[in-house]
Amino acid sequence: MPATSVIGAQWGDEGKGKIIDLVTHRADVVVRFQGGANAGHTVIVEGRKFVFHLLPSGVLHEGKLNVLANGVVVDPEVLLHEVDQFESGGFSLQPRLALSGAAHCVLPYHKLLDQLREGDKAGVKIGTTGRGIGPAYADKANRCGIRFWDLIDEDRLHRRLAANLADKNRLITRIFEAEPLEFDDMFEQARDQGRRLAPMVTDTGKLLREALAEGKHVFFEGAQGVMLDLDHGTYPFVTSSNSDSLGIAAGTGVPPTAIGHQVGVTKAYCTRVGSGPFPSELHDQTGERLREGGGEFGATTGRPRRCGWLDVPAARYAAQICGFDGLAITKLDVLSGMDQVGLCVGYDVDGKTIEEYPVDTPLVERASPIVKMFPGWSEDLGGARSVEDLPPACRAFVDEICGRVGVPWELLSVGPGRESTIVREHP
Ligand code: GDP
Ligand code: IMO
Ligand code: MG
Repeated sequence: MPATSVIGAQWGDEGKGKIIDLVTHRADVVVRFQGGANAGHTVIVEGRKFVFHLLPSGVLHEGKLNVLANGVVVDPEVLLHEVDQFESGGFSLQPRLALSGAAHCVLPYHKLLDQLREGDKAGVKIGTTGRGIGPAYADKANRCGIRFWDLIDEDRLHRRLAANLADKNRLITRIFEAEPLEFDDMFEQARDQGRRLAPMVTDTGKLLREALAEGKHVFFEGAQGVMLDLDHGTYPFVTSSNSDSLGIAAGTGVPPTAIGHQVGVTKAYCTRVGSGPFPSELHDQTGERLREGGGEFGATTGRPRRCGWLDVPAARYAAQICGFDGLAITKLDVLSGMDQVGLCVGYDVDGKTIEEYPVDTPLVERASPIVKMFPGWSEDLGGARSVEDLPPACRAFVDEICGRVGVPWELLSVGPGRESTIVREHP
């Protein structure tokens, strides 16, 4: 059976966690393939709220295998904390979690360097989550990173950590003029984490290729979104991985041809956390209304999310990059009660009207949105379970989004809970 991907079509926080949880009953395996604990995926089941930073959002379903593949950068401290929290809530993970030995560890110096860089007046402030993501991926590309194969081998860990820390401490003390980190405590902590995680560490690429060959249904859960992708997003205001479906093959070790179906998740409006261009951002009361109505505060950092109308050219660009087969449109309920709802359908850049996403970041920064308004609706959507339950204006708005983006909808989400969803064609 071909695999399915669920990918954020905007700047993250589109509701991927809810959608993955919802579709996991159809899956055998759920896989995170990039990013790390910068992700915050919220799942609400029977009124209970779970926020996953590293655990795949399928973990609430019994009997499914959850995988952290090689493309993820995993902070062992966060992972163990999340596992403990989850298990103390009455759930069990073992043996349902597999962690790639080739995944890179996020270590204390990565987090410190992330925060020092962000605080450095001379540098560009990205507004990162401070989770050490950029420095960990930099070490991976620089071929000095520590992988989970290393973490669970005490000698290798000792050698590699000593070399890395000496190098990082030079940066920390000489460039950032901060206090160096101590080796002994860090080594002991990492060694103990390695001992606990060792039973989960395996060759997840082999495991996934075998699962696919056996006809198992594999879901790839994206973190962040296409517009935060390292290559295709609003560089440098991006995350440090390929957070679109292009990252799946490299991040897991399955061939690109294994991905048979791609779902793009988009809010019915748009949000962004951190710095960087966001042409359709609303700086007025309407933006405030979306933030309050949608509870738009970061699941990882608690920061208020910037809010604006759905950016159609950016969504179309995302769809073209990933080849989305269907859209999951979330948070339609948040728009209820607005007289009119807007879509950014193009931009004015330096006096020129364009309908295509302009790609080069300075152009995106100079783009003023061309917004088209549509009639709103007053009805509460929380109880809608079929498209016929939606008010005509809401249905027309959905059709407008899909028509303009060029991708049909598969799921419409009208509330945070599992049940508040309209499913057309199950991905
Ligand atoms: P993710 O990072 O893409 O998984 O998204 P987040 O969990 O960071 O943010 C999405 C937020 O919206 C969470 O608080 C979800 O519980 C919530 N949510 C998801 N879908 C809906 C929806 O259709 N309506 C409402 N009101 N909330 C939703
Ligand atoms: P989920 O998976 C929204 C943003 C940060 C910052 C930029 C780089 O919940 O959608 P990083 O810490 O990755 O180096 O920060 O990316 N960012 C996210 N924004 N949702 C996320 O994840 C994000 N993960 C990172 O705010 O602008
Ligand atoms: Mg999130």
